[in-house]
Amino acid sequence: MEKYPYVITISSEKGGVGKTTLATNLAIYLKALAEDLPVSILSLDNHFTVDKMFAIKGQKPVGDVAEFLMETPGSELIQTGQYGVDYIPSSLVLDDLRDSIRGNMVMSRLLALSGISGILIIDTRPELNIFTQNALYASDRVIIPVKDMPSLENCRNIFDLFDKRGLDRKSLTVLPCLIDARIKYQGPFKDHKSLLRAFAINRGYRCIDGFISKSPKVESLNTNPDGRIYPILTHARGTEVYGQYAHLSREILEEYRNTAEPHSFLFHKWMLAEEERKRDEYQARLSRLKDTCLLCGKAHAVDGTDELSFYYEASDGGACGFLEDRCCSSLLLSCLYNSRTVLSDDDPLLHMFRETARESVYTFRPFENGNGRCVEVQRFNMDGSSVLKKVHPLHEYEGSGFTRTKSSLYDFIFAALGELPGRMRDAFLLIHPTNPRKPGSILSEDGYRRLMKTMRHVAERLA
Ligand SMILES: Nc1ncnc2c1ncn2[C@@H]1O[C@H](COP(=O)(O)OP(=O)(O)O)[C@@H](O)[C@H]1O
Ligand SMILES: [Mg+2]
Repeated sequence: MEKYPYVITISSEKGGVGKTTLATNLAIYLKALAEDLPVSILSLDNHFTVDKMFAIKGQKPVGDVAEFLMETPGSELIQTGQYGVDYIPSSLVLDDLRDSIRGNMVMSRLLALSGISGILIIDTRPELNIFTQNALYASDRVIIPVKDMPSLENCRNIFDLFDKRGLDRKSLTVLPCLIDARIKYQGPFKDHKSLLRAFAINRGYRCIDGFISKSPKVESLNTNPDGRIYPILTHARGTEVYGQYAHLSREILEEYRNTAEPHSFLFHKWMLAEEERKRDEYQARLSRLKDTCLLCGKAHAVDGTDELSFYYEASDGGACGFLEDRCCSSLLLSCLYNSRTVLSDDDPLLHMFRETARESVYTFRPFENGNGRCVEVQRFNMDGSSVLKKVHPLHEYEGSGFTRTKSSLYDFIFAALGELPGRMRDAFLLIHPTNPRKPGSILSEDGYRRLMKTMRHVAERLA
């Protein structure tokens, strides 16, 4: 599939089982079998075998694996090297990136957006580190070379990882490697590979058809006076391994051709669906917003002239919207610090409060006590600890006779939590500061998730 790689990862926690030999030679064989098929390789290990095998003398590298992991599209880093195999140069600094790789699906995303076509082979370190895990989850096929019982025992960690994450094991396959044909046994499993295969199957591990023998000729390919590493295809003709690689490569090629939609394509589809879902949910949150300030009744200016510094939402989701900085600060000040008068814009008290007001969240919770309806107003630190609590009687009108006026506090709470005739829902109102330059960001996927976490947290406190 154009621009979506079919990904094969070679992985084992054991070193010296033949991973790198397999990764590099598989690339060469696949390219030889299907000239028109783009075949590429990258290594997540810190040795430079891939570069030694594939770099063409004088070729200027355009980047390396570290840049790929730091979001440069793979297709921009790929170079066509020896034997027609494309490669991304290796990096020495991968270890420094460990902490910048957020999560296990980073490589799935990067490969979905990589623009790489054909087959991509990934060689890994003998470690189930964050890079290896990322490669495993991004693969259509994982080949785990095993050469003996200890390496077979070790497979369990990879299978367990998939089980723990609820991922389908079907991409994981075991391949007996470095098999010494001279070793024979009595009984049903007459040789080394049959024994390993039987143990693997017994544990529920799938084995790929075939195996790779141990060959002194193959072993000698990386030790020569030129300091080069020679491919099996060109330098180990006549060995058993030569034919075994051909068999394995044909099998993989057939599997590739039978895969209509590789993991990278499906992952991209999922990413697009997720983006659409997030956009829809964001739009739905926007459409619920009240378009006037609940305190002053003014319509919000969408051009940014109104400082929409606070967002409110009822705990039952029944009302939400923005509050202007001035209105909300005055309300909070009067409720929490008993400032009864309406303060002018340049009042030092208002200034002082505004300086720290945005470091807190606030709740308004109406309730009944023996004397009638009240409202509990609380200020919380961002970590959810309560800083201040005040209780006020909640009457529709304040004063009496000629001085009787409608209570603005009552109006505000009734507008958010009220139901006709004059009842309040059993809910509270959360007021949260926003970024006044981008108030809508509180409704984005991440912003809203954090808000809901705060909502749950203070709800527990209020209960
Ligand atoms: N089929 C084989 N026969 C003999 N030696 C092999 C074979 N495949 C790999 N080797 C040798 O085994 C050693 C380890 O192989 P390597 O591919 O580097 O393993 P890993 O990447 O798992 O550490 C290397 O010296 C390599 O030349
Ligand atoms: Mg290796």
